[in-house]
This record gives sequence, C-alpha cells and structure tokens, in this order.
Amino acid sequence: MNKLYYDNSPLLGKIRIPGDKSISHRSVMLASLAEGESHITNFLSGEDCMRTIEIFRAMGVKIEQSGSNVTIEGKGVHQLAEPAVPLYFGNSGTTARLMLGILAGLPFFTTVYGDSSLTRRPMNRVIHPLKKMGASIDGAKQASYLPLAIRGRDLQAMTYELPVRSAQVKSALLLAGLFANGDTTIMEMAPTRNHTENMLRAMGVPIEVQDEKCITMTSGHTLRGKDIEVPGDISSAAFFLVAAAITPGSHIELINVGLNETRTGLLQVLQEMGADLKISNVHASGGEMIGDIEISYHELKAVDIGGSLIPKLIDELPVIALLATQAEGVTTIYDAEELKVKETDRIKAVYETLSELGADIRPTDDGLIIRGKTTLQGGSTKSYHDHRIAMMTAIASIIASDEVQIDDLSCVAISYPEFFSHLDKLLGIQLSE
Ligand code: S3P
Repeated sequence: MNKLYYDNSPLLGKIRIPGDKSISHRSVMLASLAEGESHITNFLSGEDCMRTIEIFRAMGVKIEQSGSNVTIEGKGVHQLAEPAVPLYFGNSGTTARLMLGILAGLPFFTTVYGDSSLTRRPMNRVIHPLKKMGASIDGAKQASYLPLAIRGRDLQAMTYELPVRSAQVKSALLLAGLFANGDTTIMEMAPTRNHTENMLRAMGVPIEVQDEKCITMTSGHTLRGKDIEVPGDISSAAFFLVAAAITPGSHIELINVGLNETRTGLLQVLQEMGADLKISNVHASGGEMIGDIEISYHELKAVDIGGSLIPKLIDELPVIALLATQAEGVTTIYDAEELKVKETDRIKAVYETLSELGADIRPTDDGLIIRGKTTLQGGSTKSYHDHRIAMMTAIASIIASDEVQIDDLSCVAISYPEFFSHLDKLLGIQLSE
C-alpha cells in the first residue's frame, strides 16, 4: 500500500509539461515509415511510447534515443523487415490499434500481443474495416482481441463511415491507406483528435478535411522525414489544472501545453465552471498549437458534459469527475460509454474510487452523475493498474481530510514518469537527496 497525504497545501509555481503521448507515438511511426532523417524533441519517454520505439527497432529501423530527444533514420517502407520475435504492445491501446493498420500493409508476417489489460480491449473496431481493405488478420475469439497474427498484403482503397468515435480507429485506417491502391476517405461521427492528419500533412501527404468530419488522404505520396517538436500533453497537464482549480490558495503556470482544439475540452469545461484560467504565448509548430496556461483556485459551479465535447476530453474524464465533486450543483457526464473500454472500465473505477473518498457520485450506462460540493475524506483505493486513475487519486488526496491509500502507483510511468516530482515541486515539497 502507498500512502498519499498532502495536508491541503496549495499548488504554486511553474512546470514544463512533458511530451504528448498521442503525438509521440505518431512521430515514431511516421518517421520510421518516411524517407530521410527525423529529429524529435520533447518526446514522451513513458512506457507506452517506448513500446512503439521498440517495435520499429525490431523491424530494423535505426532509432537513437536520449531522454526526450529521438533521431530516426528513415529509409522508407522498404527498409522495414519481418521481426524475428512477436511484437509486444504492453498496455498501449494507441500502439496496438495504429500498428495493426501499418502491419496490415507491410509485406511480411507478424504476431502481436499485449498485457492483460490490453488483451481485454476490443480490437474488432480496427480489424473489421481493415479486413474490408483486404487485410489478413487472424487470432482466437474470431480475431477480435490480442494476440493476433497479421500477414501483410496489398490493400484496397476504402471509404468508411466510423461507427465509433475513435481517433485510434481513424488513424489506423489512414495509416493502412498509405499502402492502398487509391485514396482513403474516413467519415467520423464527431471530430476526434487529428494528430495523424496534421503529421501526415506536415510530412508531405495531402489530406483534405470537409466539414471537420470527412477526411480524404490522397494516395501515391512518399512520407518525408521531418523535425518534430512534440507539444506538452494536455492530458498530463489536466491533473495539475484540476489540482489548482480545487485547492484553495493555488496559482500555477503550465508551460508548453498542446492546445490542438480537438483536445481542449477540459479548458472549455473549466471556463464554463467559472475557473480562473489564462492562456498565453500561443504559437504553432508542425500543424499543432502550443501555449502556456495559468490557473488559480476559484469557486466552481456544475456543468453538463456530453455530445461532441466527449472526444475532446475523453482521457480527462476521470479527473473531471474529481473536479465536479468540488463544483456547486449536479454535473452530468453522458455519451461517454467509451470509458468502459479504456485501460480499465473507467466509469466503474472512478465511481468506486471517489465514492470511497466520500463523493456523492452515481455511475450510469454512459457516464457519471456527481453532486458537489463535498469534502473528500481519506480511504483505501486501487489504481486498477490504470495510470489516469492513479493520478486522479493522487490529486484527490491533496484535498482529502485524511490519508488516502492506494495499492499501486507504478502504472503512472505509462504516461507521466515525472508526475510525482512535478507534484512535489508544485506543493513545495523538498526531495531529500
Ligand atoms: C488516442 C485516442 C483516444 C484516447 C487514447 C489515445 C490516440 O482513444 O483515449 O488515450 O492517440 O489516438 P480512442 O481513439 O480509442 O477514443
């Protein structure tokens, strides 16, 4: 058991947010498929993104990594070789879904597997449309879950209407489209994160977007290596934005945060709740917006969160539920059934954790209903081996009246290895050497 107790101290000061997980994965994938060298800066060296690097190394790509700097010697898709061993995706849904798209088109055989959480997550959402393109993917349970075997082959161009709001599925199909015999068109139910489209465009592949939801990629273009500056991850910044918004006396500044508008749903929610928030130094890099965010404690009021806002804050919903426990009134989160198929069932995990800490919270089929404002207490919790549940619990413990215990914190390294040192810095806790 790990003990979390922070004495209700305010958060003060400034931190630089580490690289975005989604963009870090895509930078390695696209640079490995490209021709020419790519230098990636502010790469997130969390466990998930390291899996993606290891996978391309196993397929013969020369990748040098030193902390957050990565150099990839791209020689085009023809340099990639059949891996001698099965490829391990670990806990990473993004690696799994996007790699299935790439492996479906590469001219060799691969077997792929993941950890126990990833093995329970649905892969059919990617496999079904990939098979429509002609992919050969096989496995147990009608080839809907890992482990899987893929025999890469020539793929057919496709127009596809996505039945789920998922950037991972959209990205997998665009990446498979790089190997197809014509243009690829994907229609979304609501706009989801568009980092794949932005990076493909920046590397020389024409992408057209109509009405924000209909994406067409023109075939026959070679990816060109590029220097990529990864913006800070707004999904990591989210924990400190919420911590400062709910802890009296707090005032912090988060530097270098990605502000792509398909990801900034939390900022919209904070503003609607009445948070004291300022955004400055906004600039663009490689098709992505970046800026600094200043936030101070302020009284908050409840809001409703659903519809097309959900994909713009899907990963932030656990910590948004915590935020809602400190907002006056009833916050309803709906249209968020995708939470059930994340690293764990996050509706259940958030409900169990926050109710243990004394919140007035109720799970629904597609979300959560939270009545605030409640004083949180101590309690005994689990991480469910889910990095975002563990970090949400750590933030809850700042305002809890007593000690919070949690079974495991090692999963935090999946997306934010520096989380506890950043938290200690903002809380003014000196680390002994
Ligand atoms: C991601 C997309 C989202 C998100 C995940 C990362 C990505 O998943 O929850 O953490 O990098 O494309 P879905 O697209 O499955 O909703």
